[in-house]
Amino acid sequence: MRLVMIGAPASGKGTQANRLTRHFDLDHISTGEMLRAEEAKRSELGLVVESYLKRGQLVPDSLVVKLVGERLAHNHLAQRFILDGFPRTLNQALALDRALGEMGQAIDAALLIEVPDSAVLERITGRRADPETGRIYHLKFSPPPPEILHRLEQRDDDTAEVMQARLSTYRERIAPVVAHYRDQGLLIAVDGTPPPEAVFQELLCRLASLNSTPQEE
Ligand code: AP5
Repeated sequence: MRLVMIGAPASGKGTQANRLTRHFDLDHISTGEMLRAEEAKRSELGLVVESYLKRGQLVPDSLVVKLVGERLAHNHLAQRFILDGFPRTLNQALALDRALGEMGQAIDAALLIEVPDSAVLERITGRRADPETGRIYHLKFSPPPPEILHRLEQRDDDTAEVMQARLSTYRERIAPVVAHYRDQGLLIAVDGTPPPEAVFQELLCRLASLNSTPQEE
């Protein structure tokens, strides 16, 4: 099964990608996580990445495409993965098609999580991540157990100001990506406003009803 997951900042991509990863035993490839890992290294590349992340802008296509290509090359011929937050531009989508095509593969479905901008800010300000398990919590919607509260972290780009930039960038660039997958009959759009479990069940249901249902390979 080869999936891509797209959606606005804080639409729930990471939350749902984690669940799908566990359910289908996939490789969870989050470009946001990969970029934050580069940033944390404080390498030359990491400093370049940081300059984009802190402004809420997209990192250049060439850089992200290279990172994803390298990761897919280690994924047993790119058989089982979910790409979380990639592609975000039409160039990235076309580069992904080419890279998979060279391996004789293609995307099975593109999952789009739709939420209104009004829901995003509350989700962002309440988000906390557990550095030990990688789990994502929300202080109100998905509360963490009290005993781990002390170790939870908030992301540097989770501020109201950077959030506005992330949202505008997303809205400017995503339409051709959505059209690209819709034209190929690969788009599965779901409402991301119900609770996480309901969104997950909807995704499972929609994946199961695909004509060429992605099979466990
Ligand atoms: P990235 O890390 O991908 O950030 P993002 O797209 O802004 O998305 P988020 O991680 O903020 O949110 P999410 O949709 O995963 O939501 P989550 O599940 O955490 O990218 C960061 C940056 O890296 C970008 O700004 C860009 O600069 C760069 N970048 C990344 N990919 C790139 C690419 N391909 N090209 C170029 N640059 C790239 O949920 C959010 C919160 O809401 C959580 O607290 C969660 O518990 C809660 N929540 C989730 N679902 C629900 C629900 N159904 N109801 C209530 N609360 C919910």
